[in-house]
Formats: sequence, structure tokens, C-alpha cells
Amino acid sequence: MILDLIPDSARTAGLGALMKGVGKVTRFLPIPQPTLMVGPGSSGRLGQAIAGFGHRKILIVTDAIISKLGLLKDMTDALTAGGAQFVVFDEITPDAPIPLIERGIAFYREHDCDAIVAFGGGSSMDASKVIAVAIANPHKPLRSLAGYFKGFNNPVKIYAVPTTAGTGSEVTVAAVISDPEKRAKMVVVDTRIVPKMAALDPNLMTGLPPAITAATGIDALTHAVESYVGNWTTPYSDGMALSAVGLIFENLPKAYHHGKDLVAREKMALASTYAGLAFTRANVGYVHAIAHQFGGRYHTPHGLANAIMLPHVLAFSMSAITGRLAQLALRAKVADESDDDDTAAQKFLDAVIAMNDALGIPRHLAALKEADIPLLAKAACLEAETGYPVPRYMSRSECEAIIRRVLPPADEPAAKPARKAATKPAASQTDGQPATPAARQRAPRKKAA
Ligand SMILES: NC(=O)c1ccc[n+]([C@@H]2O[C@H](COP(=O)([O-])OP(=O)(O)OC[C@H]3O[C@@H](n4cnc5c(N)ncnc54)[C@H](O)[C@@H]3O)[C@@H](O)[C@H]2O)c1
Ligand SMILES: [Fe+2]
Repeated sequence: MILDLIPDSARTAGLGALMKGVGKVTRFLPIPQPTLMVGPGSSGRLGQAIAGFGHRKILIVTDAIISKLGLLKDMTDALTAGGAQFVVFDEITPDAPIPLIERGIAFYREHDCDAIVAFGGGSSMDASKVIAVAIANPHKPLRSLAGYFKGFNNPVKIYAVPTTAGTGSEVTVAAVISDPEKRAKMVVVDTRIVPKMAALDPNLMTGLPPAITAATGIDALTHAVESYVGNWTTPYSDGMALSAVGLIFENLPKAYHHGKDLVAREKMALASTYAGLAFTRANVGYVHAIAHQFGGRYHTPHGLANAIMLPHVLAFSMSAITGRLAQLALRAKVADESDDDDTAAQKFLDAVIAMNDALGIPRHLAALKEADIPLLAKAACLEAETGYPVPRYMSRSECEAIIRRVLPPADEPAAKPARKAATKPAASQTDGQPATPAARQRAPRKKAA
């Protein structure tokens, strides 16, 4: 790989400039947006609308838990009342693997469908998107659809009903599935896979278990933050990201503790969609690059992987994004106007750590193994370097060090140095170790460069 031959410092400096250049072009790329229906009962209203479109037969793609919980009922009742034919494929598992997608494709063909309702979390929505591209491009092997605009023909029409408030996939140009042979995630990007319509129905989310509420909510926060601090921002993506951050800080703890709070659930659903709109334009960064490796190798739930890594990547990037983090702190209401940027940015990082703790997010990734870290870091760096407009690029060894911080304590070869680092807040500004509030009290704060 040619990137391996270029020294780290030159590579990361050049990449920054290159990515900024690419961003000047992508900001003009037209990205369609779905018509949104919002509020309790909106999945039924969407079903009513779809029934009027005259499809021959609709494939509803979902997972067995959603099916058993009866969450499809409002939608299917409305389809039936409107005279629409549909079949349900409810076999989706988290990070749907390629063989499962192939079964979905076969099911679609067997039932002679002509549209898809993507009903569920990101895994069901993304599986639907890939099925839609594959059906329209039957001569392309599934793996060859990975990457940007790989399908020649327009995908099948998709309508979306998210049942988690996290991925924002109902409005994004991306679909993430998994390739079990490579033990890696596979990403399909195409502006034509954005659903035509979507329903944000909080009634469907009241039974979402607290741990999934937490992890998916932090996924949405990560989308908002990574898009806001990257180099492809636009006034539109900034507005969406700021709104999402405000809504998440106010409503995620409520949705976590009081799952039946419909208002908090609806606001989280909106936040997830806003964050999706932000990052589908301005992209994500190292948190996602690393989280995708955890998901591919260990099947770590996507939101959980992001939540564990977010504080560490923010700490690494802090010197390059102090002003942006300060803005986020104000919107999250964790800092006030009288704080200088350094103080406000640090308050934002502290608030992210505190929110993770309050939501029961672990600080370590139990499955992570020291021996895997070099490969994970290499793959994460490659993903970031070839796709993400991050504010500060990492060398491979910096990325390894950041991943090493989330090793479970028993596997930590350097358990002592890690504990020592936690008492050394200056490190938080330079090497990716987030300073805890307690650690900062033990020593004076270093001003961010
Ligand atoms: N396309 C994008 O833009 C995008 C963005 C971020 C993440 N992703 C991808 O999305 C996937 C993760 O999606 P996710 O975090 O939504 O999780 P998920 O779809 O994998 O669902 C997680 C679990 O929650 C359950 N669940 C979902 N909704 C429920 C509900 N309302 N009540 C009870 N249980 C419910 C599911 O059955 C499942 O067991 C990953 O593959 C990730 O890479 C895609
Ligand atoms: Fe994500």
C-alpha cells in the first residue's frame, strides 16, 4: 500500500490538505432528503401513504425482536387497510453479514417485490439499502458494491422506519454491513440509497432497553460531534450538528432513565436524524474509523464502540478543535459564555465522559486484545486517511496508543503506566488520554496549543 511508504508526518500533513480540497467539491454534491413524518403513530401514517403509491408488493426488512414485539403492527395494518401487498423478512441480525443479505435478496426476488420498507435499527435499515442496490445491479457481486457509487442502476425505492435513535440511516447516503470472511465491515455509499420517506415514531422506541438507548444515543452524539469538528462542515451541517447535540444532552438521560417518556424519545429520534443529516454531508472521523474495526473483529455494537472511543479521540484532537468544542459545550449547556475556549472545550470533554458514566458505558472494551491492536490501528488509520476529513491526523503509533487505553485492565500490559497517565492531565491534550475532572484537580491545566 503506497500510503505505508510515506513517512507519518508528511502523510498526515498532506492528507489534511487533500481532504480539505475534496471537501470543497463534495459540499456541492446534491444529497436527496426523505420526506419525514414525525410523532406518535407516524409509522402508521407512513404505511397509509405507501399504500397509495401502488407498489406491486412491498418487502418489509426487519429483525426478529422487532417482529416479536409487534412494532410492525401500525405499519402493516395501514398497508392492509390501503390494499397494499407486503411480505416480511425478519431475519436481520446486528451488522448484517453478507450471506444474510443474500438471503434477503433471494426473498425479495422470490416474492416479486418492487419496494422496500426498512424497519428497525441501523442493521435493518442498512441491510435494506444494500438489498436495494444489489437488486438493481444483479450482475455485480455483493462485495464489489463496497465503496462510493458502485451500483450503476438506481436502487429499488426504500422507505424507512428507525426503531433506535442513533444511526440516522433513515437520511444518510451510507449503508454498513459486515463481511464475515474478512472480519471487517463493508460500507456502501451512494446518494441514491437515501430513503424516499421516513417515519420517526417514538411509540416504537419506548421498549428500547436502556443499554441500547445509551449506546445508540451516543452514536448519534458522535455523528454530530465528528461532523462538527471535521474539515467538511457547511453552515447547514453545523446547524444540524448543534441542534442534535443540544437535544441529546437534554434528552438522552431522560430516555435512558424513563424509557416511556414519549417526548424524550421523539426528541432523541429527531436528534438522531439531525446528526445523520450533519454527517451525511460533513462525514465522520477517527471514532468511527476505530469503532468499525471493533465491530468487524469483535462484533462490538456500533454505538458502544463509538461511546468508548469518543472521549479518547476528542482528547487527541483537542488542540486542533478547541473553538469548535467550546461551541458544542455552549449548545450542550455544560459551559457558559464567560468561559474561555480552553475551559469550555475541556468542559465538553468532561461532560461526554460524565454522560458515558451516567449511562453505564464501560471505559474499556472487554473483547479487545493487545495482540490485535497493530492491525486494528492500521485498518482504522487507512479508513480515516482514505475517507474522513479529520481535524488532526494520527500516526499509526498514536492510534495504537489510543486504542491501548481501552484495553480491559487484565489485558493491559502496561497497567501501571496507564494509571499513571490518568493522573497526568497534561497528557490529555497531547496523546489522547482524556483527563478526568479528578485528574485535572490534581495538577494545573495545560493550555491547549
Ligand atoms: N447507514 C448509516 O449511516 C449508519 C450510521 C451509523 C451506524 N450504522 C450501522 O448501523 C448498525 C447499528 O444499528 P443500531 O445501533 O441501530 O442497532 P441494531 O439495528 O443492530 O439493533 C440493536 C439491537 O436493538 C434491537 N432493537 C432495535 N430497535 C428496538 C426497539 N425499538 N425495541 C427493542 N429492541 C430494539 C435490535 O433487535 C437489536 O438486537 C451498525 O451496523 C452500524 O455500523 C449505519
Ligand atoms: Fe455511527
